[in-house]
Amino acid sequence: MQKKIMAVFGTRPEAIKMAPLLKALQKNENYQLLITVTAQHREMLDQVMDLFQLKADYDLDIMKDRQTLSGLSARIITKLDGILAEEKPDLLLVHGDTSSTFIGALTSFYHQIEIAHVEAGLRTHNKYSPFPEEMNRQLTGVLADLNFAPTKRAKENLLLENKAAEKIFVTGNTVIDALLSVVDQNYKFENELLKNLDFENKKVILLTAHRRENLGEPMENIFRAVQQLTEKMKDLEVIFPVHLNPVIRELSKKMLAKNQQIHLIEPLDYLPFANLMARSDLVLTDSGGIQEEAPSLGKPVLVLRDTTERPEAVEAGTVLKVGTSAEAIYSESLKLLTDVEEYQRRAAAVNPYGDGKAVERIIKAMNYYFGISKKRPHDFEL
Ligand code: UD1
Ligand code: UDP
Repeated sequence: MQKKIMAVFGTRPEAIKMAPLLKALQKNENYQLLITVTAQHREMLDQVMDLFQLKADYDLDIMKDRQTLSGLSARIITKLDGILAEEKPDLLLVHGDTSSTFIGALTSFYHQIEIAHVEAGLRTHNKYSPFPEEMNRQLTGVLADLNFAPTKRAKENLLLENKAAEKIFVTGNTVIDALLSVVDQNYKFENELLKNLDFENKKVILLTAHRRENLGEPMENIFRAVQQLTEKMKDLEVIFPVHLNPVIRELSKKMLAKNQQIHLIEPLDYLPFANLMARSDLVLTDSGGIQEEAPSLGKPVLVLRDTTERPEAVEAGTVLKVGTSAEAIYSESLKLLTDVEEYQRRAAAVNPYGDGKAVERIIKAMNYYFGISKKRPHDFEL
């Protein structure tokens, strides 16, 4: 008898990190997979669904321009409720820390449907940073029945919260599975700017910024720092695929659009984005997923946040948490781009987040959970 699994997700990073697992479940005869997208993101979600050729069985289509956390949560719960009542899956699969994740898990709990949490156990222990992701992840953790922790550290965080060890599997992060499927040395960009960019002779910074807690002054500081960097380094090009959040689009346009060395472009599809990351010299970001991907490509990252729930690559030295002061971002970037030894020290490729086999381990863990297999999978180890 096939087990019915329903995946619920809604944003770009969830889709990227779920895609390899969903593809594998679709091929597995033990499982019937249903995909429900909340569409908390619209265009940025659709880009990923198209790339991985995934089709939603249910699309809640809840995104609104400048949506509030309460508004989007209310729309998800209202629309998901009837679908869960109708489909009654054996297990609901959520990923990470978005509002789609937490509200998906909460609605599932109301229907007494068991919950599997992919990328469980990351913590800053700071309620408001990242906001609201830290609480989304903790609250989902409380509700989850099966926990797929990407690293040993994440498992330890869950044990400290009295989660049963039997229900925690260390799997590695599926983002590495996804990344390995798209990065290609011979990749050719279609985007005119990237196609003609002289990666050999220019210094290239890849910039992304979108966190809610960075909107306002912190983001102004970030933009000021890259402005100053372009004034100091005439061979520097900054590529900034701007998130579709209108607040970020307005501020970046106002502060950066006139600078010839800073290129504000549309969000890139995952394929060109990952390959751009692989060819850049330095990544400046407040993203979660990029902190995991760049180290595995040997790209130094400055994290534009005061906290990180991903300490492993910081400890390995590839990621440096700089916060959002313009002075710190400017001076650390300058040091990395001009001091060859410092650069080499930070550019060593490290893979604390996975080995590309996270999906395999998650499916083995699901088989074990459902009694399809008697063998518990081995944990991912560095
Ligand atoms: C969301 C997640 C965040 C995740 C990020 C990944 C929450 C609360 N936030 O933040 O954890 O790191 O996604 O990118 O779950 N918009 C569009 N089209 C899109 C996507 C967004 O127009 O395809 C605009 C809309 O105006 C929307 C706004 O961006 O209201 C913000 O989107 P939202 O999902 O609320 O927050 P993000 O900052 O994207
Ligand atoms: N990404 C992408 N195109 C872009 C910017 C990012 O495909 O223009 C990918 C990136 O490689 C990573 C994911 O989107 O896999 C990260 O998403 P985001 O930074 O929006 O969210 P977070 O990881 O912070 O939740």
